[in-house]
Amino acid sequence: MFIMHIALQGCLRAHDVEYGITADTGGHIRYLLELAQASARDHAVERIDIVTRAFDTDFSAGDYRKPCEYLNPKVRIVRLPTPDPAYRAKEALWDQLPAFTDALVDYIDGLERAPDVLHAHYADAADVAAGVKARRGLPFVFTAHSLGLPKRQCAARAGQCGQGGQNGQSGHIDHGAVEALDRRIGFENVALAQADFVIASSRDEAEIQYADYPAYEPGRIRVIRPASDLQVFEKAEPTPRVQRMLERFLVEPDKPALLAIARPVTRKNLASLIRAYGESPALQERANLVILAGGRQSLAALEPEIADNLREMLHLIDHYDLYGRVAYPKQHRVADVPGVYAWARERAGLFANVAFNEPFGLTLLEAAAAGLPVIATDSGGPNDIIEQCHNGVLVNPCSTDAIAEAALALFEDLPRWQACQRNGRDAIRLFDWPRHIDYYHRLLARLREPQPSRRGRNTPCQRDALLACDIDGTLVGCAPGVRAFNGWYHGQAHMMFGVATGRSFHSALQILEQAGLHWPDFVVSSVGAEIHCLDANGVTYRRDDAWQAHIDVGWSRQAVVDALGDMPELVAQSPLEQREHKISYLCEAGSDIAPRLRARLAAQGLDARVIHSNGRCVDVLPARASKGAAVAWLADRYGVNRERAYVAGDSANDVDMLKALPCAIIVANYCDGLVATSGLAHAYLARATHARGVIEGVEHFQAQSHVS
Ligand code: GLC
Ligand code: MG
Repeated sequence: MFIMHIALQGCLRAHDVEYGITADTGGHIRYLLELAQASARDHAVERIDIVTRAFDTDFSAGDYRKPCEYLNPKVRIVRLPTPDPAYRAKEALWDQLPAFTDALVDYIDGLERAPDVLHAHYADAADVAAGVKARRGLPFVFTAHSLGLPKRQCAARAGQCGQGGQNGQSGHIDHGAVEALDRRIGFENVALAQADFVIASSRDEAEIQYADYPAYEPGRIRVIRPASDLQVFEKAEPTPRVQRMLERFLVEPDKPALLAIARPVTRKNLASLIRAYGESPALQERANLVILAGGRQSLAALEPEIADNLREMLHLIDHYDLYGRVAYPKQHRVADVPGVYAWARERAGLFANVAFNEPFGLTLLEAAAAGLPVIATDSGGPNDIIEQCHNGVLVNPCSTDAIAEAALALFEDLPRWQACQRNGRDAIRLFDWPRHIDYYHRLLARLREPQPSRRGRNTPCQRDALLACDIDGTLVGCAPGVRAFNGWYHGQAHMMFGVATGRSFHSALQILEQAGLHWPDFVVSSVGAEIHCLDANGVTYRRDDAWQAHIDVGWSRQAVVDALGDMPELVAQSPLEQREHKISYLCEAGSDIAPRLRARLAAQGLDARVIHSNGRCVDVLPARASKGAAVAWLADRYGVNRERAYVAGDSANDVDMLKALPCAIIVANYCDGLVATSGLAHAYLARATHARGVIEGVEHFQAQSHVS
C-alpha cells in the first residue's frame, strides 16, 4: 500500500520540529510524523509520502524548501512550491491551494506508481485532496485535527465568558478572520461530502463537533482513537535543567504544582486558568501555578494572537501579584516536556487543560502517562478521555470558580488523586500506535478493495437471516466468548449480523472494535432511536432517515425535557448520551421511577416510551422507537422472515426487542429480573453467558426450525 498524506499547515520537518514557532506548528505535526512512522512498520505499507508546501521563513533557520526529506527509507516529506515563496499561516493559505493542487497532480502523474489513498490533514488539505480525487479518481480520507465550526462556537463562548484579552483583542475576531473561518468551514463541509470516509479522534468530534455541518452524515465518520508515543512520559523523571528552569520563579518550589502546557492561543484559555488561580487564595496557598506556553524571543516578533495572549497572561500575573507563585519560562526544549510533567508529579500536582474547546487533548494522555491527574475542559475530546481513563475531572472552562474548586478538591483528596494517577497510567494502553494503525489500515485496505459484503459472497439480499445482539452484557463482557462468536459467525454465511444497543452509533462501533468483533451490517443505536446500515463499500454506514421520520411522529423532545426537568431523582446523563430522539438520565437503583415518569408524561398529554434498565439508566424515547421495532423494521427492509430474525439481550432495555421477535435469546448473565418479565415465555434462556449464550440460543432456534 502507498499512502500519501497531504498536510499544509505549520513548519513540518523530519527532525526537531519547532513546536510553537508559529500558531500552526502544533501537536498535529507530531501526530502526523508518529502516524507515518507507525504506519510504515506494517509490512503491507510500501511507501508513505507526506506532501507539504515549500516556503522560506525569516523567523527560523529551518530548511522548509528542501524538495525531499526522508524520515526513514519508506517515509519521505515532499515539498511542492506554490507562487508565493513565503510562509503562510493557515488562514492565508487558501489562494495557494489551486496551484498546490496542480503541482500535486503533476507530482503524482510523474510517479511510477500512483498512491492507493490520499489522507488529507486539516481543511485546506481536504480542498486539495478533493481536487485530486476529481481529476485522478484517487480515494481520500480526511482528518480534521481541529474544526472550524466548533471554533466559531468557542469564540462565541469566549465572548460570553467575558474573555477578550487584556485590551479586548485576543478574543476578538476581525473581519478577515471571520472570512478565513467561513472558508475553512466550507472546506470541511466539502471534506464531509467528498471524502471516502472521515477519521475523527473522539465521539465528541464525530457526534457533536461535526453535527452542525450541512453535509454531516455520521455513518461516514469513523472514530479511531488517537495514539501517542507515550513511553518517554511514562519513564519521565524531573531533570536538573527542568528544576532550574521552573524553580527560579517560585518561592516555595516544593509545593504541589498546577501545570498547564499549551500554545498561548485564545482557544487554550490560559487566561482563565490564571484568573482561577489569582482569585482563589486557598488555591494559591495550596499550590504553585506552572505554565509552559511555547517559546519566544521577543513578544514583538510573534504572531498577533500569540503576542496578545502572552501580554494578557503577563498582565494577569501582575494584576493578581502572583510573583513567586507562578512559573512561566520563556524558553524550553521539546525534550524538557516529559521532565516538566514528572516534576509536577513528584509534587503531587495536577495537569490542567481548560481550553474553550479541545478537539482531542493529547496532553491529557501525556499527563496520564507521566502519572499526573488532570482537570480538563468539558468541551470536546476530553469527555471521551476522562470517560475511558478516569484520571481526573471535567470542568466548565468558563467558570474560574469551577476550575479552582475542582483543583482544590483533587489536591485535598489524596486517595482520589492516587486513584486518578493509577487509572491514567493503566488506561494509556488504549492509545497505542499498533492498535490505531491496525484499525486505520483495515479501513484503508477496504477502500482499495471494496467488498460488497463481509465475505464478498453474499449481498444482503442473498442473506435470509439476521442476528441482532445487544452489546453490553450480551456480546461483550467475556473475551473468550467474543473469540468463539467470531469463529462461529464466520460459518453463518447466510446471516446478517447487527447490534441493538443503548449506546450511540459511534460508541457502539468503538466498543465492537475494542472487543475485536466484526463490523456489523447494521447498528440499531440509542435504544432504537437510530439505525445505520453498512454501505456496499464495507466501510461507511448510512443513517436510515426513513426510520428517523417514522419515529419522529408525535415526538416533542423539548416538551419531554420540560416535563421531567424538575425531578430531583433524575440526573441527566452526559451530553454525549443525549440524542434528538433519546433523552437519558441516571437515577438511584431500585426505584419505581419508570411508572412515575410515564404517569407524569401522560398527565401532560405526552406520548413517550420510558425504559429503566441496569438499575440506574432511564431512557425516554419517542413512542414508536424501541430496539424491537427497529429490528422488525430492518427485517422487513432486508426481506428477512421474522422467524429468522434472532435477537439476544441481557437487560431491561432489551425487553421489547425480546418480546417483539419469536427467536429471542436471554443470556445466562441477565439482569433486571428479565426472566420474570411477562411476555417473554417464548424466549430461550441460555445456559452460557454473554456471546456464547448468543451462539447457544441461535443454534437452539436453528435446530427447532430444522425439526419443524
Ligand atoms: C447505554 C447508553 C445510555 C443508556 C443505557 C441504557 O449505556 O449509553 O445512555 O441509558 O445504555 O439504555
Ligand atoms: Mg445490555
